[in-house]
Amino acid sequence: MSGRNTTKALQERKLGGAISVLFATSEIAPWVKTGGLGDISAALPPALRRAGVDMRVLVPRYPALAKAFTDAPIVAELPGLGGALPPSQLRSAITPDGTPLLLLDCPALYERPGNPYLGADGRDWRDNHLRFGLLSHVGALLAGTGTPLPWRPQVLHCNDWQTALAPAYLHYLGGPGASAATLLTVHNLAFQGIFGRHTLSELALPVRAWAMDGVEYHGYLSFLKAGLQHADWITTVSPSYAREIQTDAEGMGLGGLLRWRGACLTGILNGIDTDIWNPSADPFLASGYDAAHLAKKSANKAALQRRLGLDERNDLPLLSVISRLTHQKGLDLLPPLCEALSALPVQLAVLGSGERDLEETISAMASKHPGQFAVQIGFDEGLAHLIEAGADIFLMPSRFEPCGLNQMYSLRYGTPPLVRTTGGLADTVVGYDKASQAAGTANGFVFPDATPEALLEAIRRAVAAWREPKLWRQLQRNGMALDWGWTGPATRYAELYRKLVGPDKP
Ligand code: ADP
Ligand code: GLC
Repeated sequence: MSGRNTTKALQERKLGGAISVLFATSEIAPWVKTGGLGDISAALPPALRRAGVDMRVLVPRYPALAKAFTDAPIVAELPGLGGALPPSQLRSAITPDGTPLLLLDCPALYERPGNPYLGADGRDWRDNHLRFGLLSHVGALLAGTGTPLPWRPQVLHCNDWQTALAPAYLHYLGGPGASAATLLTVHNLAFQGIFGRHTLSELALPVRAWAMDGVEYHGYLSFLKAGLQHADWITTVSPSYAREIQTDAEGMGLGGLLRWRGACLTGILNGIDTDIWNPSADPFLASGYDAAHLAKKSANKAALQRRLGLDERNDLPLLSVISRLTHQKGLDLLPPLCEALSALPVQLAVLGSGERDLEETISAMASKHPGQFAVQIGFDEGLAHLIEAGADIFLMPSRFEPCGLNQMYSLRYGTPPLVRTTGGLADTVVGYDKASQAAGTANGFVFPDATPEALLEAIRRAVAAWREPKLWRQLQRNGMALDWGWTGPATRYAELYRKLVGPDKP
């Protein structure tokens, strides 16, 4: 082997085998999860470790994590980082699947029960800028030359607004010497981490950061805008959403900035954890099944109907929803269809929580038609699995959907999804029509407009297809044959990390 080749092989080994990445996140399942970000933070790092990336996850030490990792030793003492950011400590732990965690311990900020963003009154914690400012600042510290740890990442991978200030901290306070490359993944552009002007000094940012090309956003400070401005690269969680957010219509006020960053913005579709979401080995199901044994799925329908107090009927299709109940998810389109759905007739099972009004109007559907519609307000992981298995059709009428995980879970569970064509839904669900049927790709139902009428029309199509057992089996099998595991997405992230630290870095 020539000397040159040896060097290249060594370089490749270094880049391919040992690239080091700090994944900074505000949620990690099963301990702290309000939605998809928690799932992704639990599944992507181990998948990347399997791909040879040296991943560590930085996350606040919320009570659930303190309880899960009681013996986590302190690995660094962090003095106050300026402004109103309190002193903290870093502890290290390892998840059962072998992922190293860095737990950011600051009881004054994180020792609070329940939802990581909201108090019991349903309002944002008043000091969220400090809670996630500290998380971002520590992420930047660990990625810079002044890190207190012996391990330093080559890439700092931030997620959503809660860690999006880290690239700005590196930019303004990074000091001399090379810091890590930064990647910001946008899971949801709707949450932008917007705070008053006074938070600039509390967050220990310099006055010069208050600029149009800094952290300022229409007179406020925005964590997300700061990250979009300063990260070396931006990803979102599906190719369609990456295109959509660069438009004024769907850019949520950041379309112009995202167009400007367009050359450094790509979409990588999320994966799903195919061990946790596996219909043939799911402890929450009444009966396991796979594509070759779909008849066994019906025991789950009966179990679900019993559990939710629905009439035990197998002559009606059971529609289902598992969702945050917010404007994004388009579930306000359902209550206007209450009587039409009752007359169709179909059954409906809804599991979700979120906006009070929506909780009430959807619950009212069940009060009007008990036995036919069931609504459970709350968060229930086990019930979510049983719904995926027990329902016939899974509804996601989202107004926008960066990726969406439930449609992939339902494809895997042989429960064809019915979705609005947007974002990741458009990238994963192939609507049933003559052409897709002929091509053997149809796996669900799609509709274009966020209106009750368009949703109802799609439901009618789905119900008609459900009444044709042979066609239905085909749709189920087409969906179940797809591979939504993390191996593909992890490979794409690993390639991107390499690009960010390689000779072609942006
Ligand atoms: P988002 O992150 O926008 O809420 P995703 O589809 O990416 O949407 O992820 C939602 C995740 O949260 C899925 O794992 C879903 O099963 C879960 N989920 C949402 N609401 C509930 C609920 N009420 N109970 C149990 N799981 C839920
Ligand atoms: C967000 C999005 C959802 C996505 C999830 C994980 O919460 O709303 O579409 O699947 O993040 O990336």
